[in-house]
Amino acid sequence: MDEGASRLEVIRLGHPVLRQVAEPVPEEWFGSGRLDRLVRDMIRTMLEAEGVGLAAPQIAEPLRLFTYWVPGTDDEPGVEPVALINPEIRATGDELVEGWEGCLSIPGLRGLVPRHPRLKVKARTVDGQPVSLTADDFHARVIQHEVDHLDGIVFLDRMTSPASLAFEAEWERYVLAADEADEADDDD
Ligand code: NI
Repeated sequence: MDEGASRLEVIRLGHPVLRQVAEPVPEEWFGSGRLDRLVRDMIRTMLEAEGVGLAAPQIAEPLRLFTYWVPGTDDEPGVEPVALINPEIRATGDELVEGWEGCLSIPGLRGLVPRHPRLKVKARTVDGQPVSLTADDFHARVIQHEVDHLDGIVFLDRMTSPASLAFEAEWERYVLAADEADEADDDD
């Protein structure tokens, strides 16, 4: 944990900043102590809250940046915590795949959300360096969820139907347990 960073308050649904379209991070902020500090604080806040992503509007800063990370799996190495600033995303193809999402600003709920499984992403680093990357599957899902926050959109708005909405404890008990049972069957 970055002991030099502060844990910030994450605002919840109902706070008007979550519904604003955020402004680009100004050019003069790149490479500044101010942006570096904000990103370090956001990464600490995200990790301590056990989130995989945190967009600046969620800490009441209506700016176009987010932090995220992707846990590694047996097949993929994952992504270390990082910030993407003034991001632009483009889906590769029209395909949409449903997957479960939650949000630190909508605590305790999970819902099924359709997202593009593959994206091209362009953004800047904290130092202002341009970055381009391709994101697939869960990585692509996290980025779409966070970019939505920059446009005042939350995952509830993207759900095909509210019928899948579940509290976390019930989701773990009924949905996750059923998925794990299915996977166990697939292994046979
Ligand atoms: Ni969120």
